[in-house]
Amino acid sequence: MCGIVGYIGNQQAYPILIKGLHRLEYRGYDSAGVAFMNEKQELNVYKTKGKVSDLESLVESQDVSGTIGIAHTRWATHGEPNNENAHPHYSQSETIALIHNGIIENYAVIKKELLRQGYTFKSTTDTEVLVQFIEYVKKTNKVDLCHAVQIALAQVIGAYAIAVIDKENPNQIVAARKSSPLVVGIGDNEYFLASDATPIVEYTDKVVYVNDEEVVVIDRKNGVKLLNLSDVEQTAEVTTLKMNLSQLEKGGYENFMLKEIHEQQQTLVDCIRGRINVEGTEVVLSGVVDNKDKFLNAKRIIIVACGTSWHAALIGEFLLEDLCRIPVEVEYASEFRYRHPIIYKNDIVIAISQSGETADTLAAVDIAKQQGAFIYGICNVVGSSIARATDSGSYIHVGPEIGVASTKAFTGQITVLSMLALTIAKLRGTISNEHYVEIIQELQDIPNKLKEVLKLDDKIRDLSKIFTYAHNFIYLGRGYNYPAALEGALKLKEISYIHAEGYPAAEMKHGPIALIDNEMPVVALATSDRIYEKTVSNIQEIKARKGKVIAVVTEGDEVVSSIVDYCIEIPKTLEMFAPIVSAIPLQLFAYYIAVNKGRNVDQPRNLAKSVTVE
Ligand code: G6P
Repeated sequence: MCGIVGYIGNQQAYPILIKGLHRLEYRGYDSAGVAFMNEKQELNVYKTKGKVSDLESLVESQDVSGTIGIAHTRWATHGEPNNENAHPHYSQSETIALIHNGIIENYAVIKKELLRQGYTFKSTTDTEVLVQFIEYVKKTNKVDLCHAVQIALAQVIGAYAIAVIDKENPNQIVAARKSSPLVVGIGDNEYFLASDATPIVEYTDKVVYVNDEEVVVIDRKNGVKLLNLSDVEQTAEVTTLKMNLSQLEKGGYENFMLKEIHEQQQTLVDCIRGRINVEGTEVVLSGVVDNKDKFLNAKRIIIVACGTSWHAALIGEFLLEDLCRIPVEVEYASEFRYRHPIIYKNDIVIAISQSGETADTLAAVDIAKQQGAFIYGICNVVGSSIARATDSGSYIHVGPEIGVASTKAFTGQITVLSMLALTIAKLRGTISNEHYVEIIQELQDIPNKLKEVLKLDDKIRDLSKIFTYAHNFIYLGRGYNYPAALEGALKLKEISYIHAEGYPAAEMKHGPIALIDNEMPVVALATSDRIYEKTVSNIQEIKARKGKVIAVVTEGDEVVSSIVDYCIEIPKTLEMFAPIVSAIPLQLFAYYIAVNKGRNVDQPRNLAKSVTVE
């Protein structure tokens, strides 16, 4: 949700900033801008509606020299995406430029006062209010930029990651964060600033994560200094990044989404690695074992998440209840946080988030923490806010996910949830050794099954052509296949903009079956499981009303394949792993329909990968 990049050092800032913006474009892509200072100490701002490539065209014939700069790619919150609302924003005197990720909630009150003081505004953003306010504070208090930022932010309510440069000091970038991520990269006499480490990794692996309500002063000569809003110096802890550059490239694929779908045969190997013993008889998640008592005494587990992670959470509910016999509740983090939730001291709250930055999930974690629950995080981005806010957790280790529609993170999350359930079940003695080993052995074989199912790519591309121009879709499943159906429908709507709904198959008869006619495509997940026969009956109900059914079935299925219109066969697996295996054809199906429709699959309209506003 908005990407921030900054650079100060001996190199030309512009190419570094633009490259950084491209890396962060997944965070938002409705407008982009850059501000830098040249040797004459001129502060130039260029910005435009559209993507980073539009910014590049705009800046093409301009003087882009300068060794200090900040840049931004936007996902609009306040004010429509247009040239005026794009960041950076100038202060009134055009001596200060600022970029911002987040929302200033009390911007209207501050703006009213600034208007009274004679300030005028060019945009309708909360961000312009903030930069004007910083200038106002700087002038009235006669302080330098850092102090002005501290004083201004102490009066601000909301979420922010900001970076500010000031014509009066071409040797400093001042930045700050609250509830929106910010990382500083430490190079050789040069410094980088970004919303996450992806723009930094090709220059240095040394980073400092800025914490909430901290201001960082990055000085050409004096390096990095962290302060709180009361001007007390904080320790800047330097962390070494483990990411590598090739993970951020398309690797020969058309786009990141297709690459990430195909990567899953490997990412699940990475996810499992080191967590299952060589004999394949034991799984250990250290985050659980290190907090054994919490898991032994837990009376209830609450899982909070958003979007695709929420679908993984629903699968987690099935896994944990099945294997550990602990009651589980799954909550949308955005609802949980405003609902006066009842949380007991021996509750465990699991937060699932690919980015580790989703504002609602982070807030849910804070609420649960305040009420004394033990918090377990399942994140992908190492060092992210949620990962740092939780008491313990497990990374999914699937590598950077850049396509906005989540794919490999979903299968990684289910994989970690299954290892979590197995570890807890073993601890609590709720699983027989035979069943435990059977599940572990099957889990180890899942990457091979994904390899098999990925061979369906061409077949699914052909199938997608038949349905490209459908206006609606229904996805059905029962048991473990129900959340898988929700996720299949979400993938399709996110990237193709076709209306798609996921439904528990047996619930169709209570209303939605009214939608079925010979033009309604229905994707039915009917792999072999405990309730296979029941699902078959539900499919019959759809066929009796002439719906067009595409079924995902287990290899060798003869019953469903004889009644539906199209069949996708996936390798046989335990029912708890069917959502991982069936995720692949559903992702590919959504992908090819979107491609056929000419959509930008990596950057679908209106969406952003990391939602750091509530
Ligand atoms: C956004 C993304 C989704 C993602 C959701 C939750 O809406 O577009 O793909 O599932 O946020 O993100 P998280 O990073 O918390 O898993």
